[in-house]
Amino acid sequence: MGNNPQAEPTVFVIFGAAGDLSWRKLVPALYSLFRDHWLPQQFLIIGTGHRRVSGKEFRQHLRQGVDQFSRQGKTADQDWNDFAPHLAFMTADLEQPEVFQELAQKLADQDQEWGARANRIFYLGLPPGLIGPVARGLARAKLHLDRKRCRIVVEKPFGHDLASARELNRTLAAIFHESQIYRIDHYLGKETVQNIMAFRFANTLFEPVWNRRYIDHVQITVAEGGGVGHRGSYYDRAGALRDMIQNHLLQIMCLIAMEPPLSFNDNEVRNKKVDVLHAIRPIAPDRVHKFAVRGQYGAGWIAGEHVPGYRAEERVAADSATETFAAVKLYVDNWRWQGVPFYLRTGKRLPTKISEVSIQFQPVPHQTFPASAVLDWRPNRLIIAIQPEEGILLRFEAKHPGPTMRLSPVIMQFYYREAFKTAAPEAYETLLLDVMRGDASLFMRADQTEAAWSILTPVLEVWDRIKPTDFPNYQAGTWGPETAETLIAQDGRSWAMPTFLQCQEDAAICRVTLEQA
Ligand code: BG6
Repeated sequence: MGNNPQAEPTVFVIFGAAGDLSWRKLVPALYSLFRDHWLPQQFLIIGTGHRRVSGKEFRQHLRQGVDQFSRQGKTADQDWNDFAPHLAFMTADLEQPEVFQELAQKLADQDQEWGARANRIFYLGLPPGLIGPVARGLARAKLHLDRKRCRIVVEKPFGHDLASARELNRTLAAIFHESQIYRIDHYLGKETVQNIMAFRFANTLFEPVWNRRYIDHVQITVAEGGGVGHRGSYYDRAGALRDMIQNHLLQIMCLIAMEPPLSFNDNEVRNKKVDVLHAIRPIAPDRVHKFAVRGQYGAGWIAGEHVPGYRAEERVAADSATETFAAVKLYVDNWRWQGVPFYLRTGKRLPTKISEVSIQFQPVPHQTFPASAVLDWRPNRLIIAIQPEEGILLRFEAKHPGPTMRLSPVIMQFYYREAFKTAAPEAYETLLLDVMRGDASLFMRADQTEAAWSILTPVLEVWDRIKPTDFPNYQAGTWGPETAETLIAQDGRSWAMPTFLQCQEDAAICRVTLEQA
Protein backbone atom coordinates (compact mmCIF):
# COMPACT_ATOMS: atom_id res chain seq x y z
CA MET A 1 0.00 0.00 0.00
CA GLY A 2 1.01 3.61 -0.36
CA ASN A 3 2.97 2.73 -3.43
CA ASN A 4 3.01 5.17 -6.30
CA PRO A 5 5.65 4.12 -8.81
CA GLN A 6 5.77 7.59 -10.34
CA ALA A 7 6.48 9.37 -7.06
CA GLU A 8 10.11 9.98 -6.15
CA PRO A 9 11.60 8.75 -2.85
CA THR A 10 10.88 11.41 -0.24
CA VAL A 11 11.72 12.27 3.34
CA PHE A 12 9.31 14.66 4.94
CA VAL A 13 10.76 16.40 7.99
CA ILE A 14 8.20 18.13 10.20
CA PHE A 15 9.67 20.73 12.55
CA GLY A 16 7.19 21.26 15.36
CA ALA A 17 5.74 17.78 14.96
CA ALA A 18 4.37 17.73 18.50
CA GLY A 19 2.09 20.66 17.66
CA ASP A 20 -1.58 20.78 16.87
CA LEU A 21 -1.12 21.35 13.15
CA SER A 22 0.84 18.18 12.67
CA TRP A 23 -1.61 16.20 14.78
CA ARG A 24 -4.83 17.51 13.23
CA LYS A 25 -3.85 18.29 9.67
CA LEU A 26 -0.46 17.21 8.36
CA VAL A 27 -0.24 13.60 9.45
CA PRO A 28 -3.94 12.87 8.77
CA ALA A 29 -3.41 14.32 5.28
CA LEU A 30 -0.27 12.25 4.71
CA TYR A 31 -2.10 9.17 5.94
CA SER A 32 -4.92 9.78 3.43
CA LEU A 33 -2.41 10.25 0.63
CA PHE A 34 -0.76 7.02 1.65
CA ARG A 35 -4.04 5.13 1.68
CA ASP A 36 -4.97 6.54 -1.69
CA HIS A 37 -1.65 5.35 -3.15
CA TRP A 38 -0.16 8.75 -3.84
CA LEU A 39 3.02 8.28 -1.83
CA PRO A 40 6.14 6.49 -2.99
CA GLN A 41 7.23 3.20 -1.52
CA GLN A 42 10.36 4.91 -0.26
CA PHE A 43 8.78 7.43 2.04
CA LEU A 44 9.64 8.56 5.55
CA ILE A 45 8.19 11.18 7.86
CA ILE A 46 10.59 12.43 10.52
CA GLY A 47 8.88 14.48 13.20
CA THR A 48 11.04 16.68 15.38
CA GLY A 49 10.16 18.12 18.78
CA HIS A 50 12.04 19.23 21.84
CA ARG A 51 10.51 16.69 24.24
CA ARG A 52 11.97 13.28 24.73
CA VAL A 53 9.39 10.94 23.26
CA SER A 54 9.87 7.38 22.08
CA GLY A 55 9.00 6.49 18.50
CA LYS A 56 6.23 4.30 19.83
CA GLU A 57 4.65 7.09 21.89
CA PHE A 58 4.93 9.43 18.93
CA ARG A 59 3.17 7.01 16.62
CA GLN A 60 0.42 6.34 19.16
CA HIS A 61 -0.22 10.04 19.55
CA LEU A 62 -0.38 10.53 15.80
CA ARG A 63 -2.75 7.62 15.39
CA GLN A 64 -5.21 9.31 17.75
CA GLY A 65 -5.01 12.43 15.57
CA VAL A 66 -5.58 10.43 12.40
CA ASP A 67 -8.52 8.59 14.00
CA GLN A 68 -10.11 11.87 14.93
CA PHE A 69 -9.34 14.10 11.99
CA SER A 70 -8.66 12.03 8.90
CA ARG A 71 -11.45 12.01 6.34
CA GLN A 72 -10.79 8.26 6.11
CA GLY A 73 -12.28 7.83 9.60
CA LYS A 74 -10.92 5.59 12.31
CA THR A 75 -7.86 3.61 11.24
CA ALA A 76 -8.06 -0.16 10.88
CA ASP A 77 -5.13 -1.95 12.56
CA GLN A 78 -3.88 -3.35 9.29
CA ASP A 79 -3.85 0.05 7.58
CA TRP A 80 -2.15 1.73 10.48
CA ASN A 81 0.45 -1.01 10.70
CA ASP A 82 1.28 -0.44 7.04
CA PHE A 83 1.65 3.30 7.59
CA ALA A 84 3.38 3.41 10.99
CA PRO A 85 6.82 2.18 9.83
CA HIS A 86 7.03 5.35 7.73
CA LEU A 87 6.99 7.50 10.89
CA ALA A 88 10.04 8.37 12.98
CA PHE A 89 10.69 10.85 15.77
CA MET A 90 13.79 12.85 16.51
CA THR A 91 14.26 14.86 19.70
CA ALA A 92 15.67 18.19 18.66
CA ASP A 93 16.43 21.41 20.44
CA LEU A 94 16.35 23.66 17.40
CA GLU A 95 18.63 26.21 19.01
CA GLN A 96 21.48 23.66 19.04
CA PRO A 97 23.46 23.64 15.77
CA GLU A 98 24.48 19.98 16.09
CA VAL A 99 20.82 18.97 15.70
CA PHE A 100 21.01 19.85 12.01
CA GLN A 101 24.20 17.84 11.54
CA GLU A 102 22.46 14.92 13.17
CA LEU A 103 19.51 15.38 10.81
CA ALA A 104 21.83 15.58 7.80
CA GLN A 105 23.44 12.33 8.88
CA LYS A 106 20.04 10.64 9.27
CA LEU A 107 19.04 11.77 5.79
CA ALA A 108 22.29 10.56 4.29
CA ASP A 109 21.87 7.18 6.03
CA GLN A 110 18.35 6.93 4.69
CA ASP A 111 19.53 7.61 1.14
CA GLN A 112 22.09 4.91 1.54
CA GLU A 113 19.56 2.43 2.87
CA TRP A 114 17.22 3.13 -0.04
CA GLY A 115 20.01 3.30 -2.60
CA ALA A 116 18.42 6.53 -3.84
CA ARG A 117 18.77 10.30 -3.62
CA ALA A 118 15.50 11.13 -1.93
CA ASN A 119 13.72 14.47 -2.09
CA ARG A 120 13.85 16.32 1.21
CA ILE A 121 10.95 18.42 2.36
CA PHE A 122 11.41 20.54 5.45
CA TYR A 123 8.05 21.55 6.87
CA LEU A 124 8.22 24.42 9.35
CA GLY A 125 5.09 24.32 11.48
CA LEU A 126 6.81 26.68 13.91
CA PRO A 127 6.29 30.08 15.51
CA PRO A 128 7.66 32.82 13.21
CA GLY A 129 10.62 33.48 15.54
CA LEU A 130 12.03 30.01 14.84
CA ILE A 131 11.85 30.10 11.05
CA GLY A 132 15.09 32.07 10.62
CA PRO A 133 17.11 29.93 13.06
CA VAL A 134 15.88 26.69 11.47
CA ALA A 135 16.57 27.92 7.93
CA ARG A 136 20.09 28.90 9.02
CA GLY A 137 20.56 25.56 10.79
CA LEU A 138 19.59 23.72 7.60
CA ALA A 139 22.04 25.86 5.65
CA ARG A 140 24.91 25.15 8.06
CA ALA A 141 24.28 21.43 7.56
CA LYS A 142 24.20 22.05 3.77
CA LEU A 143 20.65 20.80 3.57
CA HIS A 144 19.61 23.63 1.26
CA LEU A 145 22.09 23.17 -1.55
CA ASP A 146 20.33 20.84 -3.92
CA ARG A 147 17.65 23.07 -5.48
CA LYS A 148 15.80 20.24 -7.10
CA ARG A 149 15.70 17.94 -4.11
CA CYS A 150 15.41 20.24 -1.09
CA ARG A 151 12.24 22.23 -0.42
CA ILE A 152 11.13 24.23 2.56
CA VAL A 153 7.48 24.75 3.50
CA VAL A 154 6.59 27.70 5.71
CA GLU A 155 3.28 27.90 7.54
CA LYS A 156 1.39 31.06 8.28
CA PRO A 157 1.51 33.53 9.91
CA PHE A 158 4.02 34.75 7.38
CA GLY A 159 5.26 37.69 9.42
CA HIS A 160 3.32 39.97 11.69
CA ASP A 161 3.35 42.98 9.39
CA LEU A 162 5.03 44.18 6.20
CA ALA A 163 8.41 44.80 7.83
CA SER A 164 8.61 41.38 9.47
CA ALA A 165 7.36 39.62 6.30
CA ARG A 166 10.09 41.37 4.30
CA GLU A 167 12.67 40.37 6.86
CA LEU A 168 11.47 36.77 6.73
CA ASN A 169 11.60 36.77 2.93
CA ARG A 170 15.13 38.18 3.04
CA THR A 171 16.23 35.51 5.51
CA LEU A 172 14.79 32.71 3.38
CA ALA A 173 16.06 34.18 0.11
CA ALA A 174 19.59 34.39 1.50
CA ILE A 175 19.56 30.60 1.85
CA PHE A 176 17.02 29.08 -0.51
CA HIS A 177 16.13 29.79 -4.11
CA GLU A 178 12.54 31.06 -4.46
CA SER A 179 11.62 27.85 -6.32
CA GLN A 180 12.47 25.88 -3.16
CA ILE A 181 10.22 27.95 -0.88
CA TYR A 182 6.57 26.96 -0.41
CA ARG A 183 4.57 29.47 1.65
CA ILE A 184 1.40 27.69 2.48
CA ASP A 185 -2.11 29.15 2.54
CA HIS A 186 -4.37 26.19 3.11
CA TYR A 187 -7.39 27.92 1.56
CA LEU A 188 -5.71 27.58 -1.80
CA GLY A 189 -5.81 23.82 -1.42
CA LYS A 190 -9.57 23.73 -0.93
CA GLU A 191 -11.32 22.16 -3.90
CA THR A 192 -13.86 24.92 -4.40
CA VAL A 193 -11.23 27.61 -4.20
CA GLN A 194 -9.30 25.88 -6.98
CA ASN A 195 -12.51 25.43 -8.85
CA ILE A 196 -12.92 29.18 -9.10
CA MET A 197 -10.24 29.00 -11.78
CA ALA A 198 -11.87 26.03 -13.50
CA PHE A 199 -15.23 27.79 -13.44
CA ARG A 200 -13.86 31.04 -14.81
CA PHE A 201 -11.35 29.80 -17.36
CA ALA A 202 -12.83 26.54 -18.63
CA ASN A 203 -16.23 28.03 -19.51
CA THR A 204 -17.15 30.76 -21.95
CA LEU A 205 -20.42 31.57 -20.28
CA PHE A 206 -19.38 33.92 -17.52
CA GLU A 207 -16.13 35.49 -18.65
CA PRO A 208 -17.82 38.05 -20.95
CA VAL A 209 -19.84 39.41 -18.02
CA TRP A 210 -17.05 39.15 -15.47
CA ASN A 211 -16.33 42.85 -15.25
CA ARG A 212 -17.50 46.29 -14.17
CA ARG A 213 -20.11 46.51 -16.92
CA TYR A 214 -22.15 43.66 -15.46
CA ILE A 215 -21.02 43.10 -11.90
CA ASP A 216 -22.32 45.42 -9.21
CA HIS A 217 -20.17 44.18 -6.34
CA VAL A 218 -18.54 41.12 -4.83
CA GLN A 219 -18.82 39.84 -1.27
CA ILE A 220 -16.49 37.31 0.31
CA THR A 221 -17.61 35.89 3.65
CA VAL A 222 -15.59 33.47 5.74
CA ALA A 223 -17.57 32.93 8.92
CA GLU A 224 -16.68 30.68 11.81
CA GLY A 225 -18.94 29.55 14.62
CA GLY A 226 -15.98 28.53 16.76
CA GLY A 227 -14.00 30.80 19.03
CA VAL A 228 -10.23 30.91 19.46
CA GLY A 229 -10.03 27.56 21.26
CA HIS A 230 -6.57 26.93 22.68
CA ARG A 231 -4.89 29.39 20.36
CA GLY A 232 -5.50 32.47 22.50
CA SER A 233 -1.82 33.35 22.92
CA TYR A 234 -1.25 33.43 19.16
CA TYR A 235 -4.61 34.92 18.23
CA ASP A 236 -4.54 37.71 20.78
CA ARG A 237 -1.44 39.09 19.04
CA ALA A 238 -2.82 38.50 15.56
CA GLY A 239 -6.53 39.30 15.24
CA ALA A 240 -8.90 38.61 12.36
CA LEU A 241 -7.28 40.98 9.86
CA ARG A 242 -3.89 39.27 10.12
CA ASP A 243 -5.20 35.78 10.74
CA MET A 244 -7.69 35.57 7.87
CA ILE A 245 -7.95 38.61 5.60
CA GLN A 246 -4.24 39.12 4.91
CA ASN A 247 -4.02 35.61 3.50
CA HIS A 248 -7.14 33.51 2.90
CA LEU A 249 -9.65 36.20 1.93
CA LEU A 250 -7.24 38.21 -0.20
CA GLN A 251 -6.22 35.04 -2.01
CA ILE A 252 -9.84 34.20 -2.78
CA MET A 253 -10.31 37.75 -4.01
CA CYS A 254 -7.30 37.35 -6.33
CA LEU A 255 -8.85 34.27 -7.92
CA ILE A 256 -12.09 36.12 -8.51
CA ALA A 257 -10.44 39.25 -9.88
CA MET A 258 -7.39 37.94 -11.78
CA GLU A 259 -6.99 38.12 -15.54
CA PRO A 260 -6.96 34.79 -17.40
CA PRO A 261 -3.50 33.24 -17.14
CA LEU A 262 -1.82 32.16 -20.38
CA SER A 263 -1.17 28.72 -18.93
CA PHE A 264 -1.34 26.81 -15.69
CA ASN A 265 2.36 27.35 -15.14
CA ASP A 266 2.95 28.22 -11.48
CA ASN A 267 4.64 31.54 -12.03
CA GLU A 268 2.15 32.60 -14.66
CA VAL A 269 -0.76 32.00 -12.26
CA ARG A 270 1.04 33.78 -9.47
CA ASN A 271 1.88 36.73 -11.73
CA LYS A 272 -1.77 37.21 -12.55
CA LYS A 273 -2.72 37.02 -8.89
CA VAL A 274 -0.10 39.47 -7.74
CA ASP A 275 -1.30 41.90 -10.42
CA VAL A 276 -4.61 42.06 -8.57
CA LEU A 277 -2.90 42.81 -5.26
CA HIS A 278 -0.88 45.57 -6.88
CA ALA A 279 -4.05 47.06 -8.38
CA ILE A 280 -5.91 47.26 -5.07
CA ARG A 281 -6.43 50.90 -4.21
CA PRO A 282 -4.43 51.91 -1.13
CA ILE A 283 -6.53 52.99 1.83
CA ALA A 284 -5.48 56.41 3.10
CA PRO A 285 -5.02 56.47 6.89
CA ASP A 286 -7.70 59.13 7.35
CA ARG A 287 -10.18 56.99 5.35
CA VAL A 288 -9.64 53.75 7.25
CA HIS A 289 -12.89 54.16 9.20
CA LYS A 290 -14.79 54.26 5.89
CA PHE A 291 -13.12 51.15 4.48
CA ALA A 292 -12.55 48.84 7.44
CA VAL A 293 -14.39 47.86 10.59
CA ARG A 294 -13.47 45.64 13.49
CA GLY A 295 -15.36 43.81 16.17
CA GLN A 296 -14.88 41.58 19.16
CA TYR A 297 -17.41 39.07 20.44
CA GLY A 298 -18.99 39.15 23.83
CA ALA A 299 -20.75 36.18 25.43
CA GLY A 300 -23.75 34.81 23.58
CA TRP A 301 -25.53 31.76 22.26
CA ILE A 302 -24.59 29.53 19.35
CA ALA A 303 -26.77 26.57 18.38
CA GLY A 304 -28.42 26.52 21.79
CA GLU A 305 -25.13 26.65 23.68
CA HIS A 306 -23.98 29.56 25.81
CA VAL A 307 -20.41 30.59 24.94
CA PRO A 308 -18.11 33.02 26.77
CA GLY A 309 -16.94 36.33 25.40
CA TYR A 310 -13.52 36.61 23.77
CA ARG A 311 -11.93 38.35 26.75
CA ALA A 312 -12.86 35.37 28.94
CA GLU A 313 -11.12 32.88 26.61
CA GLU A 314 -8.00 31.00 27.65
CA ARG A 315 -4.76 33.05 27.29
CA VAL A 316 -6.53 36.20 26.17
CA ALA A 317 -5.97 39.51 27.96
CA ALA A 318 -8.93 40.55 30.10
CA ASP A 319 -8.94 43.97 28.41
CA SER A 320 -7.90 42.70 24.97
CA ALA A 321 -8.31 45.11 22.06
CA THR A 322 -7.84 42.35 19.47
CA GLU A 323 -10.48 42.10 16.76
CA THR A 324 -12.23 38.77 16.26
CA PHE A 325 -14.22 40.20 13.35
CA ALA A 326 -12.99 42.31 10.48
CA ALA A 327 -14.60 43.62 7.33
CA VAL A 328 -12.97 45.67 4.59
CA LYS A 329 -14.05 47.29 1.38
CA LEU A 330 -11.52 47.20 -1.44
CA TYR A 331 -11.41 48.54 -4.98
CA VAL A 332 -9.30 47.12 -7.78
CA ASP A 333 -8.07 49.96 -9.94
CA ASN A 334 -7.88 48.42 -13.38
CA TRP A 335 -10.02 48.32 -16.53
CA ARG A 336 -11.97 45.25 -15.53
CA TRP A 337 -12.93 46.27 -12.01
CA GLN A 338 -12.93 50.04 -11.82
CA GLY A 339 -15.65 51.16 -9.39
CA VAL A 340 -16.71 47.64 -8.31
CA PRO A 341 -16.41 47.24 -4.54
CA PHE A 342 -15.20 43.98 -3.03
CA TYR A 343 -16.53 43.55 0.50
CA LEU A 344 -14.60 41.03 2.59
CA ARG A 345 -15.69 39.91 6.05
CA THR A 346 -14.63 37.26 8.49
CA GLY A 347 -15.16 36.57 12.14
CA LYS A 348 -15.16 34.09 14.94
CA ARG A 349 -18.27 33.16 16.90
CA LEU A 350 -20.60 34.09 14.08
CA PRO A 351 -23.80 32.04 13.77
CA THR A 352 -22.16 29.15 11.93
CA LYS A 353 -19.14 28.04 9.90
CA ILE A 354 -19.76 29.03 6.33
CA SER A 355 -17.63 30.48 3.54
CA GLU A 356 -18.88 31.77 0.27
CA VAL A 357 -18.30 34.28 -2.47
CA SER A 358 -21.30 36.18 -3.73
CA ILE A 359 -21.11 38.00 -7.04
CA GLN A 360 -23.98 40.33 -7.53
CA PHE A 361 -24.80 41.43 -11.05
CA GLN A 362 -26.27 44.78 -11.96
CA PRO A 363 -29.99 45.31 -12.32
CA VAL A 364 -31.43 44.99 -15.82
CA PRO A 365 -31.06 48.28 -17.70
CA HIS A 366 -34.79 48.58 -18.33
CA GLN A 367 -37.65 47.06 -16.39
CA THR A 368 -40.05 45.54 -18.96
CA PHE A 369 -42.57 44.16 -16.50
CA PRO A 370 -45.32 46.02 -14.67
CA ALA A 371 -44.63 47.04 -11.08
CA SER A 372 -47.02 44.35 -9.80
CA ALA A 373 -44.88 41.66 -11.49
CA VAL A 374 -41.59 42.64 -9.93
CA LEU A 375 -42.41 42.98 -6.25
CA ASP A 376 -39.98 40.13 -5.46
CA TRP A 377 -37.51 41.06 -8.17
CA ARG A 378 -33.84 40.69 -7.23
CA PRO A 379 -30.69 41.07 -9.31
CA ASN A 380 -28.81 38.00 -10.55
CA ARG A 381 -26.36 36.61 -8.09
CA LEU A 382 -23.73 33.94 -8.52
CA ILE A 383 -22.64 32.18 -5.36
CA ILE A 384 -19.52 30.13 -5.00
CA ALA A 385 -20.04 28.07 -1.86
CA ILE A 386 -16.70 27.07 -0.36
CA GLN A 387 -17.66 25.32 2.86
CA PRO A 388 -19.26 23.41 4.45
CA GLU A 389 -21.13 22.74 1.20
CA GLU A 390 -19.04 23.02 -1.96
CA GLY A 391 -20.89 24.20 -4.98
CA ILE A 392 -22.01 26.94 -7.32
CA LEU A 393 -25.44 28.51 -7.27
CA LEU A 394 -27.04 30.99 -9.61
CA ARG A 395 -29.97 33.14 -8.69
CA PHE A 396 -32.14 34.36 -11.51
CA GLU A 397 -35.72 35.47 -12.09
CA ALA A 398 -38.48 33.16 -13.27
CA LYS A 399 -42.18 33.55 -13.85
CA HIS A 400 -44.29 32.43 -10.96
CA PRO A 401 -46.82 29.81 -12.14
CA GLY A 402 -50.28 31.30 -12.59
CA PRO A 403 -52.37 33.43 -14.90
CA THR A 404 -50.71 36.74 -14.01
CA MET A 405 -47.16 37.82 -14.71
CA ARG A 406 -45.26 37.71 -11.46
CA LEU A 407 -41.52 37.21 -11.18
CA SER A 408 -39.71 35.38 -8.41
CA PRO A 409 -36.06 34.59 -7.77
CA VAL A 410 -35.07 30.94 -8.14
CA ILE A 411 -31.74 29.25 -7.65
CA MET A 412 -29.95 26.76 -9.89
CA GLN A 413 -27.73 24.65 -7.74
CA PHE A 414 -24.67 22.59 -8.46
CA TYR A 415 -23.06 20.67 -5.60
CA TYR A 416 -19.78 18.87 -6.06
CA ARG A 417 -20.90 16.19 -3.64
CA GLU A 418 -23.88 15.32 -5.82
CA ALA A 419 -22.26 15.80 -9.18
CA PHE A 420 -19.09 13.86 -8.65
CA LYS A 421 -20.14 11.47 -5.91
CA THR A 422 -16.66 11.32 -4.57
CA ALA A 423 -15.15 12.80 -1.44
CA ALA A 424 -12.94 15.80 -2.06
CA PRO A 425 -9.44 15.62 -0.60
CA GLU A 426 -8.58 17.81 2.36
CA ALA A 427 -6.77 21.02 1.45
CA TYR A 428 -3.57 19.78 3.05
CA GLU A 429 -3.60 16.60 0.98
CA THR A 430 -3.59 18.62 -2.23
CA LEU A 431 -0.95 21.01 -1.00
CA LEU A 432 1.42 18.42 0.44
CA LEU A 433 1.22 16.41 -2.75
CA ASP A 434 1.99 19.56 -4.75
CA VAL A 435 5.10 20.18 -2.64
CA MET A 436 6.21 16.63 -3.28
CA ARG A 437 5.68 17.08 -7.01
CA GLY A 438 7.41 20.46 -6.99
CA ASP A 439 4.35 22.39 -8.16
CA ALA A 440 4.17 25.80 -6.48
CA SER A 441 1.14 27.31 -8.22
CA LEU A 442 -1.02 27.06 -5.10
CA PHE A 443 1.65 28.59 -2.87
CA MET A 444 2.44 32.20 -2.11
CA ARG A 445 5.44 33.81 -3.69
CA ALA A 446 7.49 36.36 -1.72
CA ASP A 447 6.05 39.32 -3.61
CA GLN A 448 2.47 38.13 -3.02
CA THR A 449 2.92 38.02 0.75
CA GLU A 450 4.45 41.48 0.79
CA ALA A 451 1.80 42.97 -1.49
CA ALA A 452 -0.92 41.53 0.73
CA TRP A 453 0.66 43.05 3.83
CA SER A 454 1.03 46.43 2.07
CA ILE A 455 -2.69 46.59 1.38
CA LEU A 456 -3.56 46.15 5.04
CA THR A 457 -0.74 48.16 6.59
CA PRO A 458 -2.69 51.45 6.89
CA VAL A 459 -5.56 49.63 8.60
CA LEU A 460 -3.23 47.81 10.98
CA GLU A 461 -1.43 51.02 11.85
CA VAL A 462 -4.57 53.03 12.48
CA TRP A 463 -6.15 50.23 14.51
CA ASP A 464 -3.00 49.92 16.54
CA ARG A 465 -2.87 53.65 17.23
CA ILE A 466 -6.56 54.17 17.99
CA LYS A 467 -7.76 51.53 20.40
CA PRO A 468 -11.39 50.45 20.15
CA THR A 469 -13.61 51.87 22.86
CA ASP A 470 -16.68 49.75 22.17
CA PHE A 471 -15.31 46.19 22.52
CA PRO A 472 -16.98 43.74 22.88
CA ASN A 473 -19.31 45.07 20.22
CA TYR A 474 -21.08 41.97 18.95
CA GLN A 475 -22.71 39.12 20.69
CA ALA A 476 -21.45 35.61 19.94
CA GLY A 477 -23.87 33.98 17.52
CA THR A 478 -24.63 37.15 15.54
CA TRP A 479 -23.23 38.40 12.21
CA GLY A 480 -20.74 40.85 13.73
CA PRO A 481 -20.90 44.45 14.89
CA GLU A 482 -23.38 46.99 13.65
CA THR A 483 -20.56 48.93 12.04
CA ALA A 484 -20.18 46.04 9.57
CA GLU A 485 -23.69 46.78 8.39
CA THR A 486 -22.88 50.47 8.10
CA LEU A 487 -19.76 49.72 6.05
CA ILE A 488 -21.86 48.26 3.27
CA ALA A 489 -25.09 50.19 3.90
CA GLN A 490 -23.28 53.49 3.25
CA ASP A 491 -23.07 52.30 -0.37
CA GLY A 492 -26.77 51.38 -0.49
CA ARG A 493 -26.05 47.63 -0.30
CA SER A 494 -26.35 44.92 2.32
CA TRP A 495 -24.58 41.71 3.25
CA ALA A 496 -26.00 38.67 1.55
CA MET A 497 -27.38 36.04 3.83
CA PRO A 498 -25.18 33.02 2.99
CA THR A 499 -27.15 31.20 0.35
CA PHE A 500 -26.65 27.74 1.66
CA LEU A 501 -28.30 28.79 4.93
CA GLN A 502 -30.98 30.57 2.98
CA CYS A 503 -31.60 27.40 1.00
CA GLN A 504 -31.99 25.43 4.18
CA GLU A 505 -34.47 27.93 5.50
CA ASP A 506 -36.32 28.76 2.34
CA ALA A 507 -36.76 25.65 0.26
CA ALA A 508 -39.21 27.53 -1.95
CA ILE A 509 -36.62 29.61 -3.75
CA CYS A 510 -34.18 26.74 -4.01
CA ARG A 511 -36.35 24.24 -5.74
CA VAL A 512 -34.77 24.40 -9.19
CA THR A 513 -31.87 21.99 -9.23
CA LEU A 514 -29.47 21.69 -12.10
CA GLU A 515 -28.72 18.08 -12.88
CA GLN A 516 -25.20 17.23 -13.90
CA ALA A 517 -25.01 17.51 -17.65
C1 BG6 B 1 -6.49 29.39 9.94
C2 BG6 B 1 -6.69 30.43 11.01
O1 BG6 B 1 -5.55 29.83 8.99
O2 BG6 B 1 -7.72 29.13 9.30
C3 BG6 B 1 -7.73 29.99 12.00
O3 BG6 B 1 -5.46 30.67 11.68
C4 BG6 B 1 -9.00 29.60 11.29
O4 BG6 B 1 -7.99 31.00 12.97
C5 BG6 B 1 -8.71 28.63 10.16
O5 BG6 B 1 -9.89 29.02 12.23
C6 BG6 B 1 -9.95 28.38 9.34
O6 BG6 B 1 -9.68 27.37 8.42
P1 BG6 B 1 -10.84 26.42 7.87
O7 BG6 B 1 -10.17 25.60 6.84
O8 BG6 B 1 -11.33 25.63 9.05
O9 BG6 B 1 -11.89 27.34 7.33
